[in-house]
Amino acid sequence: MREPIVVGNWKMNKNPDASVQLVQELQAFIGTNGLKTQVGVAPTSLSLVKVSEILSNSPIKLCAQNCHYEDDGAFTGEISATMLQEIGCNYVILGHSERRQYFHETDEVVNQKVKKVLEAGLNVIMCVGETLEEREQDITNQVVERQVKKGLKGISASDMDRVVIAYEPVWAIGTGKTATPQQAEDVHRFIREIVTSLYSVDVANRLRIQYGGSVKSANAKELFSMENIDGGLIGGASLKAEEFYKILCSF
Ligand code: PGA
Repeated sequence: MREPIVVGNWKMNKNPDASVQLVQELQAFIGTNGLKTQVGVAPTSLSLVKVSEILSNSPIKLCAQNCHYEDDGAFTGEISATMLQEIGCNYVILGHSERRQYFHETDEVVNQKVKKVLEAGLNVIMCVGETLEEREQDITNQVVERQVKKGLKGISASDMDRVVIAYEPVWAIGTGKTATPQQAEDVHRFIREIVTSLYSVDVANRLRIQYGGSVKSANAKELFSMENIDGGLIGGASLKAEEFYKILCSF
């Protein structure tokens, strides 16, 4: 059985004080209630240290939204995986479509980052997904296959235990359009097939695949009930503690 994982991707929202407040509200909702899912939050880089301090004894995992593929050096404006590890991060989201689209991240760059994050002892959430144009051209599977294969190039089977893949159709992100549970399930199943061909049935069966793109409490249960959907990467709906908590309870 795979333990589901739901992560709130806060993107460029919430200053450090507001980030701490949101985590505290979430902690109050969770209280001592047992959840059936692993939970993570991904504040901006600026808020990571402050949020890390209040999460030190909490089951909520601290996630970063990006990092560089070098350890240190002349890379103005960047932070490294080792730095994230040192301040208590558990996961790094890599290859989000907004990074691919606005910051020109290629599959090769994503792969370099995946390697560096694993080398630093952290876990990876690697995002893949097709644009609307690609879906309409009926090349969703080709795009996803390329992103998965290139993103995981050179990653060992044992390191795959620290990799989560997030399938996020670009046309569903922040648009209010969600993939139907069956559309999402089809791609999730296909991703598991790719990972089977790259590694083994065992590795593929252990891999957690999150769905992302306009997930909210009203549609989470239906999506999470699909066989190959092991959680969610939640943008807008993770910025309100109660709504995010309801999504967590959808398992
Ligand atoms: P959304 O974003 O839930 O606001 O669509 C998801 C994501 O980009 O991770």
